[in-house]
Amino acid sequence: MVSVFSACSKQKDIVQENFDFSAKQLKHALKEMKSALENETDASIHERALNAWSELTNPRSLEADGSLLMVPSKDWCSGFFPGELWYMYEYTKDEQWKRLAHRRTIILEREKFNGKTHDMGFKMYCSYGNGYRLTGDTAYRSILIRSAQTLITRFNPKVGCIRSWDNVGSKWKYPVIIDNMLNLELLFWATRATGDSTFYNIAVSHAKTTLKNHFRADNSSFHVVDYNPETGEVIQKNTHQGYAHESAWSRGQAWGLYGYTMCYRETGIPDFLEQAGRIARFIFTNPNLPEDLIPYWDCNAPDIPNEPRDVSAATCTASALYELSKYDRENAGKYLEWANTIIENITKNYRAELNSHKGFLLLHSTGAKLLGFEIDVPLVYADYYFLEALLRKKNLEFNINIE
Ligand code: GLY
Repeated sequence: MVSVFSACSKQKDIVQENFDFSAKQLKHALKEMKSALENETDASIHERALNAWSELTNPRSLEADGSLLMVPSKDWCSGFFPGELWYMYEYTKDEQWKRLAHRRTIILEREKFNGKTHDMGFKMYCSYGNGYRLTGDTAYRSILIRSAQTLITRFNPKVGCIRSWDNVGSKWKYPVIIDNMLNLELLFWATRATGDSTFYNIAVSHAKTTLKNHFRADNSSFHVVDYNPETGEVIQKNTHQGYAHESAWSRGQAWGLYGYTMCYRETGIPDFLEQAGRIARFIFTNPNLPEDLIPYWDCNAPDIPNEPRDVSAATCTASALYELSKYDRENAGKYLEWANTIIENITKNYRAELNSHKGFLLLHSTGAKLLGFEIDVPLVYADYYFLEALLRKKNLEFNINIE
């Protein structure tokens, strides 16, 4: 009895301590953003004008020279920072975070019409979705429904999936990436909100087709599966951000774990739960996973142990594991132990110093090493899933204490 109590209070401390740190660090981020927006360079303004991009909105990462990389709303990362501010509001119930989150959210509205990308869920569900969940603001609700309607224009019933990327030249005909699983959460929500099952059916079709075609015998995932849009046949399976076509790109494994856990929550389909369990086993039995459970950017990167880590894969994995522990009670102990180890090690060894790194919370993520960008840097989505994981951890412990 005593040990359960002390374990819980120790874990509560780590959540509280991280939110205290994040409150200060995100205030620093807001100052840095203000100054980056005021001091946008002529080159950046010119580039935006040439490409008809909107104003810079929210932070994504650091440039090679250490300056803050802010992105226009169309960037797939534009919704994570407002999402972090909504999580701060959820944890603290302090109205100042709500005001700040609202400000950083409403600048993304134009994306509800952007049918040129599959990243709608990342952009709109992390921002407006969290905002709607926490405030019930009906304006957010309409924007989310419009976003979901736009997203499903990318669905091809022959393939059974939403198309991920356009403008891929002759490389792919109909690329679908494992990351796309995360965008389905918006569609499940849209069916609940409207009663129209179209969104749900498309999401389930996408998840089932991905389950069939994206995974190898060892339950690791390919990054990109290319389909013939006329017949639905698979043309090729390869990578874009990983080390090799046959390698296991770490963030891709995290997207799969998170995606199938969420799809099980939304549908109750047992195959999805089983797939999430299989992905977790792949990640945590991989001989190249370091002892601290923060993966290298690719499980098969050639120079392990001298390869950069990817903290974003770790935080997304931890958040998914807290949720998975609720559905797979048999393995819950293991999932919680892994997730807690990730959170403890990140807190000790991967956090930025207060008031440094333009206000990012975590260091040592990797966006796309072979493409030569975002190598061993802070990434906004690493921070977003870190705060989400902390909230999920806190909520689990609260429920255990009142059971
Ligand atoms: N969704 C893009 C990435 O994970 O880098």
